[in-house]
Amino acid sequence: MVTPMTDLTTLKRAAAAKALEYVSDGMKLGLGSGSTAELFVELLAPRVRGGQKLLCVPTSERTAIFARKLGLTLSTLDDQAPLDLTVDGADEADRNLDLIKGGGGMLLREKIVASSSKKMIVIADESKLVPRLGKFPLPVEIVEFGHKTIAARLQSALADLGYKNFRMGLRQKDGTPFKTDNGNVIYDCHLGVIQNAAKLGTAIHTVPGVVEHGLFVGIAATLIIAGPGEVEVIEK
Ligand code: A5P
Repeated sequence: MVTPMTDLTTLKRAAAAKALEYVSDGMKLGLGSGSTAELFVELLAPRVRGGQKLLCVPTSERTAIFARKLGLTLSTLDDQAPLDLTVDGADEADRNLDLIKGGGGMLLREKIVASSSKKMIVIADESKLVPRLGKFPLPVEIVEFGHKTIAARLQSALADLGYKNFRMGLRQKDGTPFKTDNGNVIYDCHLGVIQNAAKLGTAIHTVPGVVEHGLFVGIAATLIIAGPGEVEVIEK
C-alpha cells in the first residue's frame, strides 16, 4: 500500500531521497541551497559516516555551515571543478527543465556551481512544477553601486522586450536591502508568464551592473518532483 505523503517537508524529503540514488562513492558534489537542498544534505550525512568519500562544494554560506555541522567534507569549486553532480532545489520548474531560482538569494553561486557540473538534478515538491515560468518573481542580482539606475535600465530593457505593467522591487530583509553572499542586492521582477526564458535571460544580461538572474535555461538534466504517493523523474 502506498502511504500518502501530504506534508510538504515529507514531499521535499522524498525528492531528496530519490536524488541520493544518483550519488556514488568518490563523487564531487555541488550542494544547493534552500530547504529542499538542505534535506538532501541531511540524507548525505549517513553515507559519509558509512565511509563514502564525497567532496562537496556548497552554493551558499548557509549550506556550508549546515553541511560542515553534519560532518561533510567541503572543498572549493576551483579545486574540484568540474563537479560530477549538483543537487539543488528550485522556486519554479517547467517540464522543459527550465527553472526560476534565487528565492533564497543564492542564485549566482548556484548557477556557477550547477553549470560547472557534469549533471544538475533539481529536487522539489509538486507545488514547484508549473506549466509556464513566471508566477514566481524573477530575482535579478545587481551590484550595489548605482543599483537604482541599473534597475531603471533593466526596467526599460524588459519593457522593450514586451513586458508591460510589471512591478520590480528591491528585496528587503529586516528593513534594509537584502545582501547576497557576494555583497550584491536583488531586484525581484514580477513579470507574469515568461514566454521565452532564453531570450529574457539574454536581454537582462545586456544591462551593465546586472550580475546574474535566476533563470536556469538548459542547465538542469533531471527534475525530481514529489507529489502525494509518487515521485516523478523527468529527464531532459
Ligand atoms: C535559493 O536561492 C533558491 O534558488 C532555492 O533553491 C529555492 O529558493 C528553493 O528553495 P526551497 O527548497 O526552500 O523551496
